[in-house]
Amino acid sequence: MTFTQTAAEFSMPLGIETVDRNDLLLFDQTYPERLSLRESLLREYPDDVVGVTNESDARIRLAVQELYNYLFQTYLLVRYPSIFKAREDNHGSATMLVNMVTRQTLPMTMADSTSLHFALRTIAQNIDEDFFILLPQKQEDNSEEVYVLEAYAACFPSGFQPKEKIGKKLADIHGPVPGYKEKLQKSMDRFFARLEPGRFVKRVNWSLTVDEELFSNFDKSKPAFEGTLKKLSVEDLDLEKTFLRCERQTLHRLPASGAIVFAFHTYLYPIREVKDDGSGEDLAQAIDGLENGSVREMFTYKNGDKWADAVREFLRS
Ligand code: HEM
Repeated sequence: MTFTQTAAEFSMPLGIETVDRNDLLLFDQTYPERLSLRESLLREYPDDVVGVTNESDARIRLAVQELYNYLFQTYLLVRYPSIFKAREDNHGSATMLVNMVTRQTLPMTMADSTSLHFALRTIAQNIDEDFFILLPQKQEDNSEEVYVLEAYAACFPSGFQPKEKIGKKLADIHGPVPGYKEKLQKSMDRFFARLEPGRFVKRVNWSLTVDEELFSNFDKSKPAFEGTLKKLSVEDLDLEKTFLRCERQTLHRLPASGAIVFAFHTYLYPIREVKDDGSGEDLAQAIDGLENGSVREMFTYKNGDKWADAVREFLRS
């Protein structure tokens, strides 16, 4: 992950690049602790972490089933064979998966009787990645189809609540994003319409957070989230809670349902570590770029006017 993505790049068309299918999901050494955190969030905030617009919609069922089966029948067994092992039944067919980290077993195939919520929970419990499933919707005026968020399993959304986004079109989901309508909407709609099954792409989003934990988006008392964050001086910075937060986002289309899966993995780097690793100046320059880029409102959208001076002073001290 680099810190060189700036607001200038935001004005480039979408800022996406093709990624190898093998790199769709990247687990690292935080996997066991992240899964424990996911489990506790699922217990505490079940309705925030998993959402479906309509449990009995056949198109949504097909999409969730397709994603579930791709992940648990194919991808994880091949990509992470030391974590996921197939377990044979008495007749010698492999029907269950064992997660060697949690020691839990789970079905390799999503049964027709399984609820969509349950399947999405299983995904959230086993995979350190947040998933959003979007389906195309025809427009009344017969113009290009638009994509609607129909289901998600998301433990670590950054600064938004998925349950407030579900059922919405991409353009409405991005309502608060500065410059979206003018700079992104058209090319994004075109990109979504043309994304072929078998092609995987990624983009990276970064920001600084000064009062957040991984899951703090649910906690409305956090000043950044509720919009009451004051401008910070370097002395105000709580270095235990100040992180460079990066999301590695991917997109791909499921071939049978035609759904688009938007997934992201969240990385948190304490800024103290960024500085100690010798990358302080790089990050300070990336913040300069965000502030002076072509979409100045992006800087404010990311609360830059509150934290940027303090963080740069710390990084350059
Ligand atoms: C090519 C694909 C996409 C692009 C270029 C894009 C672009 C952006 C940008 C520029 C932002 C502002 C923060 C940032 O990332 O720097 C944003 C925020 C966001 N995006 Fe996307 N996005 C894409 C796909 C999606 C999809 C498929 C979803 C579906 C759920 C989504 C949901 C969101 C949400 C919920 C936010 C936060 C909005 C808020 O502040 O309420 N994005 N997106």
